[in-house]
Amino acid sequence: MAEAMKGLKRTHRCAELTAANVGETVTIMGWVQKNRNKGGLVFVDVRDRSGIIQVVFEEGKSDEALLEKAAKLRAEFVVAVVGEVKKRSGAVNENLATGGIEVIPEELRILSESETPPFPIEENSRTKEEIRLKYRYLDIRRPDMQRNLMMRSKAATLIRQFLAKEGFLEIETPVLIGSTPEGARDYLVPSRIHQGHFYALPQSPQLFKQLLMCSGCDRYFQLAKCFRDEDLRADRQPEFTQIDMELSFVDVDDVIDVNERLLKELFMDVLGVDVPLPIPRMTWQEAMDRYGSDKPDIRFGMELTDVTEVVSGSDFAVFKGAIENGGTVRGINAKGQGAMPRKKIDKLVSFAKDYGAKGLAYLAISEDGTVKSSFAKFMTEEEIDGLIKAMDGKKGDLLLFAADKNKVVWAVLGALRLELAKQMELLDKDEYKFLWVTEFPLLEWSEEENRFMAMHHPFTMPMEEDLAYIDSDPGRVRAKAYDIVLNGNEIGGGSVRIFDPKIQSKMFEVLGFTQEQAQDQFGFLLTAFKYGVPPHAGLAYGLDRIIMLMAKADSIRDVIAFPKIKDASDLMTEAPTTVDAKQLEELGLEIAAEKGEE
Ligand code: AMO
Ligand code: AMP
Repeated sequence: MAEAMKGLKRTHRCAELTAANVGETVTIMGWVQKNRNKGGLVFVDVRDRSGIIQVVFEEGKSDEALLEKAAKLRAEFVVAVVGEVKKRSGAVNENLATGGIEVIPEELRILSESETPPFPIEENSRTKEEIRLKYRYLDIRRPDMQRNLMMRSKAATLIRQFLAKEGFLEIETPVLIGSTPEGARDYLVPSRIHQGHFYALPQSPQLFKQLLMCSGCDRYFQLAKCFRDEDLRADRQPEFTQIDMELSFVDVDDVIDVNERLLKELFMDVLGVDVPLPIPRMTWQEAMDRYGSDKPDIRFGMELTDVTEVVSGSDFAVFKGAIENGGTVRGINAKGQGAMPRKKIDKLVSFAKDYGAKGLAYLAISEDGTVKSSFAKFMTEEEIDGLIKAMDGKKGDLLLFAADKNKVVWAVLGALRLELAKQMELLDKDEYKFLWVTEFPLLEWSEEENRFMAMHHPFTMPMEEDLAYIDSDPGRVRAKAYDIVLNGNEIGGGSVRIFDPKIQSKMFEVLGFTQEQAQDQFGFLLTAFKYGVPPHAGLAYGLDRIIMLMAKADSIRDVIAFPKIKDASDLMTEAPTTVDAKQLEELGLEIAAEKGEE
């Protein structure tokens, strides 16, 4: 095989050839897509990452040995072809970029052979994802995966160039760091030298990038691998990539400004999509009230309406009970869905229950104006009329109501709104609607931990005008935190940081840390703040999520070369694996006997 490339030099990728190359002798290399042998005439499609070119071996034109070799070719053989580019003698293939030309070979070299692959290498594979992931190296040969990875590479390059132009330094931060309990669960790495001690893999470079601001680096960025041991979904992986940045001497608007320009350039250069600036902004409160979500998809309406006032006088126990419990009643109007069959409505009810609802009250207005409802019998006609009016209910509409604590009502109607939009085909993947969500609550009450937790992270600056409530009513304090949302996906988030050690100590106190605990875990940051810390702020994007949306993929797995599945394992390498007893011994570790084994 050492001789495989002897005397050969690739001149073009397959689909780089155009009519302009007609008459030239070229050398292409790639994989056999297919081989059609018509007896005396062999058509071979050769594929590389650029696309496909047809090579035609013809009796009389090609010598016999060449024809014989061509007839032996099978799918996924790797070949080199030297030949002349000609206009197609047969019909032009309109589906192929190179459909008007073909290569008439002088030389064919088989560089390696292939067994029959476990699935065909083609666009829009219907192969099960488990099989695709087991043979990921083959899956990545498919044109859609190639396109996704090329798009990702292009985007990463553009982002680097843009940020460099804006004065950001690309600085790497460590991957073996200390564990901090706040946030998601850490991945731990045992230390051999310090037995019983562990590194953690970073959930984000947060602390290091703030320290780089203390160091005078002024503007930092990194395409950083982050690790979080959390439940996986279509938009979550245990390791993922952030476009992470931090800026000194800035406030909210400065971070937003540079990022809006970054997004505009990125979407124009990669997709040719214009992002109108400024990107609209909405406070967290408004987002929850109007969309029941802190990452609203604003490609469509179907907004929530608060009807608490309207139904407050009614005797319907469900509504009454919720209101008495300090909750609200809110609804959405699914326009034109009034004729939805009962079975389908029941499905929506159980969907709502999956999101914590105790039930879902509905009211369908048929085209002739009659009303079918799960609760109309509990209310007077005037009350129903008032409710329909408040919901802007028209003939043919379906009104859906949830009554509960706000948190539940938002979660239920927010999810229902998206589900209905899917059913009603209101979501257009070609449309890109960005939104900044601002003024997040600083803290979130955790029933589980019975204490306040930082909604973003403990270094986020409270809004100055709310600082007064930090002791008396911490839940009311808003933060200088912002998320960037695209089509209902949180593609990034960040905040202005606390740089006043007194406010930082107060924050730790509210979060229930003792002085010692705070010192223990974040002492180095608090100490750094004693030696001249600039005001600073930053943001991190989920690169995988942005590329998923740009590539119109359904999962971030489709834009990550080697992703993991739901149980966080890798089907190809079979990681995680057990390790040798010797390795464990060196680390001073022992596997606890499984329950029932003792
Ligand atoms: P945050 O935790 O919001 O902020 O993360 C930033 C962005 O990273 C993406 N993301 C993920 N993508 C794929 N899989 C995951 N498991 C996953 N988790 C998060 C999201 C998210 O918006 N240090 C802060 C940023 C800052 O304050 O500057 C941080 O990590 O798109
Ligand atoms: P019930 O009286 O329990 O049969 O409920 C009457 C209607 O109210 C049914 O359609 C229930 O699904 C609905 N319902 C029950 N609990 C709630 C709730 N918390 N919010 C909205 N609708 C509810």
